[in-house]
Amino acid sequence: MIYPENILLLAPLSGFTDLPYREAAYRGGCRYAFTEMVDAASLAYASGNGIKLLCCNEFEHDNFIATQLVGSDIELIKRACDKLNEFDFSLLDFNLGCPVPKVVKKGAGAALGRNVEHALKCFETITRYSRFPLTAKMRILHQHDPEPTLELCRGLVELGAQALTVHGRTMEHFYTGEVNFSIIRQIRETFPQIPVIANGGVYSVEDCRIMRRETGCTRVMLAQGAMGNPWLFREIEGGQPPTLEEWKDMVSTHISAMVRLYGEESAMRRARKIVHDYLRGRGFPAALRNEASALSRESELDILLAHAFPAAEVTTRRIVISESGSTSSLPSRSN
Ligand SMILES: Cc1cc2nc3c(=O)[nH]c(=O)nc-3n(C[C@H](O)[C@H](O)[C@H](O)COP(=O)(O)O)c2cc1C
Repeated sequence: MIYPENILLLAPLSGFTDLPYREAAYRGGCRYAFTEMVDAASLAYASGNGIKLLCCNEFEHDNFIATQLVGSDIELIKRACDKLNEFDFSLLDFNLGCPVPKVVKKGAGAALGRNVEHALKCFETITRYSRFPLTAKMRILHQHDPEPTLELCRGLVELGAQALTVHGRTMEHFYTGEVNFSIIRQIRETFPQIPVIANGGVYSVEDCRIMRRETGCTRVMLAQGAMGNPWLFREIEGGQPPTLEEWKDMVSTHISAMVRLYGEESAMRRARKIVHDYLRGRGFPAALRNEASALSRESELDILLAHAFPAAEVTTRRIVISESGSTSSLPSRSN
């Protein structure tokens, strides 16, 4: 079995799940993570193996690290598989769910759900050219009717998919709105021979409990819920929210690792949205978010963190303020 029962996975998140991001997630309790999605066309023509998107660390090589391919051109998929074969991954996932226009316009990602025959041709190509165990990540194809999604799953499983991750929203819903638990459950019940990983709308411990109860899936993938909240992994497994010191140390360590990987200028541009996510929903004053938007030096982050103290009463994203048990929490990401 490619995944044990009862695990939590960090989703592939384009523009986010680089090595520093995953290292933050591991410190928060994550054990199974994906790199950012890689596009078959850019991979096919990339040179060398210094592709930053695919940078992994020793811990990952010794434990688990997956990557994800997106594409719809058979020739480019072949070449991309050849290129990926030079790297070391636990598995390769195929993306059938990305709704972003620049991907869908090329017939890739979620667009493959509208052309199941071609989707299966792409997946079959990967089975022939990739040396890795293969999985697929998809969306539900219809809001109410499970049959189209089941048909796609059937084809993928027949071709050898060793696990399926199902995001319980259609492509029209992008990343927000209600998640259809029932279709995820039907997929799990139809394909008991492989792990079916439930995804969508898990932003809290309670959300995860409901996802597991309603879908019957013991494996759950976290995405937006873990953005700026890597402690969600350990909280779901019964651990505590971060202390303020731990929160500060996490932000600082995460951004320092980005500076080492990308150089300060490029890292700090990318860091702005990351710091925003860490600040979100924890009761910090709005002025800190403005400071985060203007970050251009690592030293400016040190100043921001020195001033960071949650001010408001909060409801979900808790920070433990003192050892004596006084806590505060905040509204989660607005979705
Ligand atoms: C910024 C962002 C980037 C994403 N990038 C990817 C990606 O590269 N590959 C993928 O399969 N899904 C991607 N997703 C979708 C997530 O993996 C996940 O399926 C989706 O956000 C639903 O889960 P959630 O409601 O828990 O966030 C992305 C989502 C977001 C918000």
